Amino acid sequence: MDRTVPSLSSFARGLTTETAFDVLAVARKLMTSGKDVIALQIGDSPFPTTASALKAAHAAIDAGLTRYCPSAGLPEFRETIAATVKKEFGVPATADNVVVGPGAKVFETYFCEAFLEPGDAVLVFQPAFPTFEPNIIRRGAKPVYVPLKQENQFRPDLGAIEKFVKSEPRARALFLNFPHNPTGGVATADDLKAIANIVRGTNIAVFSDEPYCHMVWNAAGPSVLGKHHSILAEPGMLEQCVGAYTFSKSYSMSGWRCGYMVTSAATAQVVSKMINTSLSCVPPIVQMAGKAALEHDAAERDDVMVKFHAKVVLLVNELRKLPDVTVLMPEGTFYVFPNVKPICDRLGITSHGLAMYLLEGADDKRGVACLGGECFGAAGQGFLRFSCAEPDERLVQAVQFFADAITRTERVKAYLEANPKYRAR
Ligand SMILES: Cc1ncc(COP(=O)(O)O)c(C=O)c1O
Repeated sequence: MDRTVPSLSSFARGLTTETAFDVLAVARKLMTSGKDVIALQIGDSPFPTTASALKAAHAAIDAGLTRYCPSAGLPEFRETIAATVKKEFGVPATADNVVVGPGAKVFETYFCEAFLEPGDAVLVFQPAFPTFEPNIIRRGAKPVYVPLKQENQFRPDLGAIEKFVKSEPRARALFLNFPHNPTGGVATADDLKAIANIVRGTNIAVFSDEPYCHMVWNAAGPSVLGKHHSILAEPGMLEQCVGAYTFSKSYSMSGWRCGYMVTSAATAQVVSKMINTSLSCVPPIVQMAGKAALEHDAAERDDVMVKFHAKVVLLVNELRKLPDVTVLMPEGTFYVFPNVKPICDRLGITSHGLAMYLLEGADDKRGVACLGGECFGAAGQGFLRFSCAEPDERLVQAVQFFADAITRTERVKAYLEANPKYRAR
């Protein structure tokens, strides 16, 4: 019998996802079949959730916090968040400026729903976090990509922002993400001041994605932890921006799904309605864990951040020993983003093809999982992204494996024959 199934929307048919999760699935499958995979593909913390968060969640269960709660978040948690962003980043927030969500990512969707109409233009720096684009497209708006360049330390091009604001007829929003995934670039305090000066008083809304706010590195010391600057601290910017923050990275809580946004009270109310009409609320148990993390776990968090920094330095220094690899020391995040274009050109392979070869094709017993720069858009071509979420000795092994794998040209050839989509054109 002929069955007709409902046709999917064009949006559903064209939906793109975060490739890190796809590579994670391939890596997990290979691991199950016995392959030793050094997993540097996903931006997840290998450290345990901080202690007070764990304790508070148990206490919340025991106290019976197992029901719905306000869509914007528990009032006491919103207050703690406001006090924290004020103290840590100088953002003049009160609880009315805060909305709690299941991580930071969902706020991309809500930001686009709050501000974008079909045909609007959104400036996005590229390489870009892969879910920015589908969320912009979901609203029928169009991303306008501006490259972040290695020779400019992956800092934002202020001239391009000015040009966009002044000459793009449908300019409506700007996506920022500093410290930046995948490049590790950081916008300086002066960059952010300049951006605020360009957009202030215009109809441009800014989405400032700041999941790595506690991973700003300070090469000059004395502490390796630097100060995070948020554009929301600039005069008037709380009203014009949505800042998105998460517990995933700082407190090793990616699976808890806990984050928050900071914005004007009016936008916070609108986004609370969006949560009401989609998620209802974030589980109160999770919120109590987040609250305890903010109140008690800053020291543990910073110890973990220092460990991440040491891994970043180790991985960069190992990569710098290889010919044809050019890599900056990241200013922030736990990602390392080497330029491997000469290697790709020599092997006739795309950078994501090279990443998949390292995982699947280079060796039968071992693989390294990482991402090709083009998973973050065309401007990422020729780069690889490694996260540093493995023990130190495994990071060293991963680089050695990479160095050997690219000399096995017969295996590269066979891999490309089996996977022609990875051939460089
Ligand atoms: C730039 C960026 N935005 C958002 C997220 C999502 O974070 P969350 O786990 O809080 O949803 C990530 C996670 O990797 C990220 O790198």
